Amino acid sequence: MDFPRIIVNYKAYETGIVERGLKLAFAIQRLGKAYIGIAPQLVDTSLIARQVNIPVFAQHCDPLDKDKATGWILPRSLARVGVYGVLLNHSERPLALGRIKDTIGLTRKYGLKTLVCADTPRQARDIAKLSPDAIAVEPPELIGTKTSVSEAEPEIVVKAVKNVHEINPDIKVFVGAGIHTSKDVAMALKLGAYGVLLASGVMLAEDVEKEIGEFVKGVEEGLK
Ligand code: G3P
Repeated sequence: MDFPRIIVNYKAYETGIVERGLKLAFAIQRLGKAYIGIAPQLVDTSLIARQVNIPVFAQHCDPLDKDKATGWILPRSLARVGVYGVLLNHSERPLALGRIKDTIGLTRKYGLKTLVCADTPRQARDIAKLSPDAIAVEPPELIGTKTSVSEAEPEIVVKAVKNVHEINPDIKVFVGAGIHTSKDVAMALKLGAYGVLLASGVMLAEDVEKEIGEFVKGVEEGLK
């Protein structure tokens, strides 16, 4: 499975819980042309990962690898249910740098990919030193708005790519926040990002299937 160009973060939206989350995952599998992965709600991760054939990311996990770990989310358990990767350090679930480092190490042991979020290109540089597979830069003030990072802050996209690739050119750079249209996606890719992380553009869409089609179009446009 290729690393997806778009990751739909379900966050805790009501539109993504249990049956609704599974239905959305199937729609993305059917219409996403292998460009789109998902990060379902943690409680549904196993349910969904075991039934779809698209990259499924856990929204978080912990650097523990032992049986006596009540209430923790272990990389080995995620790998066991067919999860593709983990999202770490989202601005809604921030982690200390040391914790991110330990988690990347353990997820790698279990063959899971890591996508670590950063609030700024500067923070992305520090995270790049930990060698995750991908880094997503999301300006927190644009998250959940209709103002996309690629349109409103193109210099953030460029800076994020530059900062990360100066440290390690193999790390895939994602951007996110406010991405709602095919144009937002295409522009992010044209500015040098590998992909985009988005949530409300899908989770709050009136016509989800139409939006998925739009985002696919954005990837194809951005890769031209
Ligand atoms: O993880 C994606 C996210 O934080 C961006 O949210 O709603 O602005 O696409 P949204």
